Amino acid sequence: MISEVKDFPFLKIQGLEFAYGEVKVLHGLDFHMDEKSVACVMGRNGVGKTTLLRNLVGLEKPTAGSIHLAGHDITDSEPFVRATSGFGYVPQGRQIFPLLTVEENLSVALSAAGVDQQLIPSSVYETFPVLYDMRKRRGGDLSGGQQQQLAIGRALVTRPKLLVLDEPTEGIQPNIITMIGEVIRNLVEEHNMTILLVEQYVDFVKKYADTFAVMNRGRFVAQGAVSGLDATTINKHLSI
Ligand SMILES: Nc1ncnc2c1ncn2[C@@H]1O[C@H](COP(=O)(O)OP(=O)(O)OP(=O)(O)O)[C@@H](O)[C@H]1O
Ligand SMILES: [Mg+2]
Repeated sequence: MISEVKDFPFLKIQGLEFAYGEVKVLHGLDFHMDEKSVACVMGRNGVGKTTLLRNLVGLEKPTAGSIHLAGHDITDSEPFVRATSGFGYVPQGRQIFPLLTVEENLSVALSAAGVDQQLIPSSVYETFPVLYDMRKRRGGDLSGGQQQQLAIGRALVTRPKLLVLDEPTEGIQPNIITMIGEVIRNLVEEHNMTILLVEQYVDFVKKYADTFAVMNRGRFVAQGAVSGLDATTINKHLSI
C-alpha cells in the first residue's frame, strides 16, 4: 500500500540555534510535527525548553536555522505577525494581569493580536465555564488552576491554529491537570488545532500527547511517538 506523502510537515524547525549574548543555549535543533497532533517537549530544568518556545513564537531571534509553518518560512516574522497568522502562546508561569478582571484579561489578548473582532468567543467560556462565572473577578484573585485556565483561554480568543503551551500543569492540582489534558485533546480532535507543549510530567505526556522530543542541554536526544517513551529514556534524561 502506498501511503500519502505530504510535501511538508505543519511545523518544521531546522538547525535552530540561539544564544543569550555569548552563552549558547540551543545547539542546532531539528523538529517537526503534523497538523492536528499534540507534541511534547520534555527535559530537565534549564535545558532550553522555554528558550525554544520563545524562538518559535518570535520573542527571541534565532542565531541560526529556520522555522517553517505550513510550508511558509516564518523565521524572521515578528511576534504579532505570528499571532495573526495563527499562533497562540501560553507562557510558563501563566503571566496573566492580576489587577485586570478575567474578562479584561481575555479582551486584552484580542486587541493585542489586532484581530478584527471585539467579542470574546463563547467557545472560550464553553471550554472553561469557570472563566464565565468569574468574569468580573480580578485575575489575581483566582486560584492557580483557574489562572492557568485563564492563560489558556486568553491564547484561545484568537482561535489559533498552533497552540504553544509552556508547562501548563506546573503547580496545578490533579483534577485540573486532567481537565487541561482533556481540553487539549478536544481542541485537536474537535477544533483541528495543533498543539506543542512543554511538559515534565511523564504520565500526562503518555496520556495526552502523540509525539515527544526530549531535550538535554540544548539538543534533542530522543524523539518519536509517545509509545516509544521508555524507561531508559526517562531514567537517563528526565528523572531527577
Ligand atoms: N534571559 C536570559 N538571559 C540569559 N540566560 C538565560 C535567560 N533565560 C534563560 N537563560 C538560561 O538559558 C538556559 C535555558 O533556560 P530555559 O528557561 O530555556 O530552560 P527551561 O528548560 O525552560 O527550564 P525550566 O524547566 O526551569 O523552565 C538556562 O541555563 C537559563 O539560565
Ligand atoms: Mg521553562
